[in-house]
Amino acid sequence: MPDIHIATAEKNLNKAGFLDLQVDPALDLFEEIRRLKKEKNVVLLAHYYQEADIQDVADYIGDSLGLAQQAEKTKADIILFAGVHFMAETAKILNPGKKVIIPDLKAGCSLSDSCPPPLFKKFREEHPDHVVVSYINCSAGIKALSDVICTSSNAKIIVESFPPEQPIIFAPDKNLGAYINKITGRNMLLWNGACMVHEIFSLEKISRLKKENPGAKLIAHPECEDPILKIADFIGSTTQLLKYTQQDSSRAYIVATETGILHQMIKDSPEKTFIPAPPDNACACNDCPHMKLNTLEKLYICLKHELPEIHMDEDLRLKARIPIDRMLEISAKAGL
Ligand code: 13P
Ligand code: SF4
Repeated sequence: MPDIHIATAEKNLNKAGFLDLQVDPALDLFEEIRRLKKEKNVVLLAHYYQEADIQDVADYIGDSLGLAQQAEKTKADIILFAGVHFMAETAKILNPGKKVIIPDLKAGCSLSDSCPPPLFKKFREEHPDHVVVSYINCSAGIKALSDVICTSSNAKIIVESFPPEQPIIFAPDKNLGAYINKITGRNMLLWNGACMVHEIFSLEKISRLKKENPGAKLIAHPECEDPILKIADFIGSTTQLLKYTQQDSSRAYIVATETGILHQMIKDSPEKTFIPAPPDNACACNDCPHMKLNTLEKLYICLKHELPEIHMDEDLRLKARIPIDRMLEISAKAGL
């Protein structure tokens, strides 16, 4: 990940010459963030896994596909991305002329980290007859080595855009890849990567919860492991899970994904009960530690100083853009 590039106006430096990172406790951060966004023509894009306060002040909240689509069409001068690094990087790939900033540059992703470009390049070279479909949760280096990108919202239609006889490598998420293999009848070669949050759910505890709450439906993200998906009543991306709870008539849901999504579910359906699926130990492991590095305070400082900023090598950006454009084109044709 690139270092924070500190090039800022003198007014943002304190007496010692350091960037002023203090937040006045008397400030109404919601109001200040709204004011600065307007003043600087900033669009604030937030993933559903962000903390509730950030979601409440965002201009757009969405899943990875929705966020990429918003980033592509925004007329704002600055994109403030409340999500993880690969998401902000995708926004930069789509908007080379805009400033893209992120509250915490260290907000990474275990899934993205599980697929280092040099190893993946070798793997790809070992299978020259395969095309590469990569899940958007990967670095620009992996995107540049891919033929088309997908998200959990469009993975099925992206894979089905290739003829059945076409050999495919799917990277980096083995769980999403296995799920797509199952529902399409394909036999894609899977990279051995996974998300630390979605692999943590306990089948035993979820099964017990289902027994204790017989009316509750289990809804799961396809990054979960197969035994969880097998007993799920509905499987979908974060946006699809949210829509399901808005339209379905059940009164209660066990939600097997990151807990941030519960904020919108409760807001949209306050009369329903949402139970976070339990992890296989006692910690709050279904909170993504990367997503949760962003806080309202960091977001305010980021907006004020326009730092840290995403910078990219232009050659890499151009290569990484091609498979993202393909994904956006296929999705638009499918009405997504
Ligand atoms: P979606 O945004 O596609 O639902 O993926 C969830 C996720 O893990 C993002 O990091
Ligand atoms: Fe990565 Fe998983 Fe966190 Fe999403 S939830 S950012 S896939 S570690």
